[in-house]
Amino acid sequence: MKRSLIALLSLAGLVAALPATAQFRKAEDAIEYRQSAFTLISNHFGRVAAMAQGKVPFDAKLAAENAAIVNTLASLPFSAFGEGTDKGKATRAKAEIWQEMPKFRAAADKMIGEVAKLDSAAKTGNLEQIKSAVGAVGQSCKACHDNFRAERK
Ligand code: HEC
Repeated sequence: MKRSLIALLSLAGLVAALPATAQFRKAEDAIEYRQSAFTLISNHFGRVAAMAQGKVPFDAKLAAENAAIVNTLASLPFSAFGEGTDKGKATRAKAEIWQEMPKFRAAADKMIGEVAKLDSAAKTGNLEQIKSAVGAVGQSCKACHDNFRAERK
């Protein structure tokens, strides 16, 4: 029982944490990586969102291309929240991330799931479907930021 629990825990937690330490030599590198990944996600999501909000003309091909890029990128930042990456460079990541890792992971998975739905919606070229998927993605970003991202200093 104890042994299998440990196995489970290491599957859920350790395996998720290990790649971060393996990938990044310094905390600074991890922080830079996740901020860069979020910047790219935000940029490409923003292009689809602008169409959904009627700020720029709807172009089905562009929407599909950008949604696919967001879908590819969506999980990347979350490989860079390993232990010890709470400092080392200016970061807005709150300490709660490491105190409540399962909750943080769930918020990440929620966003990744909504982004996959946006990708599917964008492939149909149906603007109404894209609009509702954009709304759900936006909410999933905000939900995590509200809990785990500090205000700009
Ligand atoms: C599970 C939590 C979580 C989700 C989901 C999430 N973010 Fe973030 N985001 C963060 C945290 C934490 C930071 C701060 C990272 C840091 O400064 O080290 C951040 C930072 C950012 C930044 C600033 C990057 C920089 O250069 O400092 C942008 C832009 C951003 N997120 C956009 C998004 C968008 C767009 C989505 C949804 C598609 C999203 N985020 C989803 C947690 C999340």
